[in-house]
Amino acid sequence: MTLQFSLISTAPETVDTACVVVGLYEGGVFTSAAARVDGAAGGAIKRQVESGDITGKSGACTVLFAPAGVAAQRVLVVGLGAQKSFDAARFQKVSLEAIRALGRLPVDRAVSYLTEVEVPGRDAAWRARTAVLAADHASYRYTATFKPRDKSAQPELSSLGFADGGNAQSGLQQAVAIAEGVRFARELANLPPNICTPAYIAAQAQAFAEAYDGVTCRVLDDVEMEQLGFGSLLAVGRGSANRPKLVALEYRGGKEGEKPYALVGKGVTFDTGGISLKPGPGMEEMKFDMGGAAGVLGAFIATVKMALPLNLVCVVPAVENMPDGNSYRPGDVLTSLSGLTIEVLNTDAEGRLILCDALTWTLQNYQPQATVDAATLTGACVIALGKHASGLMSRHDDLAAELLAAGEHSLDRAWRLPLWDDYQVQLESGFADVANIGGKNAGAITAGCFLARFTEGQRWAHLDVAGTAWDEGRKGLATGRPVPLLAQWLIDRTEKA
Ligand code: BES
Ligand code: MN
Ligand code: ZN
Repeated sequence: MTLQFSLISTAPETVDTACVVVGLYEGGVFTSAAARVDGAAGGAIKRQVESGDITGKSGACTVLFAPAGVAAQRVLVVGLGAQKSFDAARFQKVSLEAIRALGRLPVDRAVSYLTEVEVPGRDAAWRARTAVLAADHASYRYTATFKPRDKSAQPELSSLGFADGGNAQSGLQQAVAIAEGVRFARELANLPPNICTPAYIAAQAQAFAEAYDGVTCRVLDDVEMEQLGFGSLLAVGRGSANRPKLVALEYRGGKEGEKPYALVGKGVTFDTGGISLKPGPGMEEMKFDMGGAAGVLGAFIATVKMALPLNLVCVVPAVENMPDGNSYRPGDVLTSLSGLTIEVLNTDAEGRLILCDALTWTLQNYQPQATVDAATLTGACVIALGKHASGLMSRHDDLAAELLAAGEHSLDRAWRLPLWDDYQVQLESGFADVANIGGKNAGAITAGCFLARFTEGQRWAHLDVAGTAWDEGRKGLATGRPVPLLAQWLIDRTEKA
C-alpha cells in the first residue's frame, strides 16, 4: 500500500490526528509548531527538555502520549540538531527519521509540521517535495516475492499530512509524481533476474504506454535488431535464452515537431560477466545491473505524471550477459550499429557494448536536443566516488552544469569526471577501431570515453550509477537513483527563460 499525502493548514495543537510531528533544535530551541503544542500542553515538551529526555539531537525522536490540551493522540518530537548548521541534507535526514519513528508506532495517520522549518536557500515547495519523497522512500517495502514477517498486527501509516509552509502545492504534486517514478524504479530493480528479464522490462514499458495518453512504446526484438545491424548489442545477448529487446518510450508533452530530450539506460538484467566470468561471491547483486534502465524509466514515468511540457524519449537496451556455447568471446571483433568496429577484450565490459548501439539508434532516430544515459557501468566509479555521488561525464560544460545543479537541488548528487582525449589512447586496438576496455587506470573515465566515440558532436552526458543505484549487502535494496536528479533536470528544462 502506498502512502497518501495531503497539505494541512490547521494549527498543530488542534489538528485531529493519531500523531502530530514537530521539530526541536539542539539546546532546546523550539520551532514555532513545537512551541504552540508545548503551550497548549502546559509545558509538557519543555519539562522533558529540562529533564534531559529530549535533547534536540539530529534525528532523535521522542513520543508524548495523549498530552492534555492537544487534539492529536500523540506528539512526536524530532531533533533537528544545531539550528545554525541546519541545511537541506539535515532536513532530508530528519524527515526520514520521523517517518521511521512513525512506522514503529501503531498509527495509521499523522500530520507533520517539519515542512514549516526554514531551510537556507530552499522554498516551501522544495520542503514539501523533499518531505514527501523522504516519506515515500522510508515507507517502501519490497513484497513482490515474499511477505516480510509482520512483527505485530499494528496499523500501518497510510495517510500523512504536511503543514503547508507557504506555497507547497506545486511541491506536493511534483513529489507525488517523482515518488511514483522512484517506486517504479526500485521495484523493477529489486525483482529477481529470473522475473525481470528483457521481455519483462519491455512488457512493463508497453503496459505503461497503454495506460497513458500521449505515450507510445516501440519494442525491437533480436530479429529486427539483427536486420538493422545492432552487432554490438546482440553480441552481448548471444549467450542468453532470454533474448534482447530494445525498448523505446515516447512522450509528447511539448510542441509538435520540437526535438525531444532523450534518456538511455543500461538494462543488463543479469551480468555474470559472460565468458570473462565474474567471481561467485556477491554475483547476485548483478541483478541490479539494469539500475540505469530502471532509473530512466522511473524518470520517464515521473515526467508523464507531472505532465511536463516537453517531448521525451526513453530508450532501454535490455539484455542478459551469460556464458554459453553461443556466447561472444574475448578477441571477437564486432561491428556496431554506427559502423565502428570493436575488439572485445573482456566480455564483462558489456554495458558500453549495448549502450553504444542504443545511443547510435537514439541519435539517428530522434535527433534529441540533449541525451543523458544512466548506467551501472563500472566498479571503478564506485572506487572513485563511493556510494554517495554518481559519476558524471560530458564534453558539454553547460549540460554538465545543468545536471550537477539538478543533483544538488534534489540531493541526488553527481560529481564530474573528465572526458579528455588524453584518455582515448587507452582504448586503442590493433584489430578494430576501438577496444572495449582501457586497462586498469581511470576505468570509469575510459568507459565514458568509449561511449563518447559513439556520440561525437551530440549534446550528451553519461551518468555512472554503479555506486548509487542500490544499497550494498545481503538486504540492500535499489535506491531509485538517479530518478530524482533526472526528474529535476527535466523540470528545470521547462522553467528555463
Ligand atoms: N555491471 C558491471 C559494473 C559494476 C560492478 C557495477 C560492480 C556495480 C558494481 C560492469 O558490467 C562491469 O562488469 N564492469 C567491469 C569493467 C571492466 C571489465 C573493464 C568492471 O567494472 O570491473
Ligand atoms: Mn560486466
Ligand atoms: Zn554490467
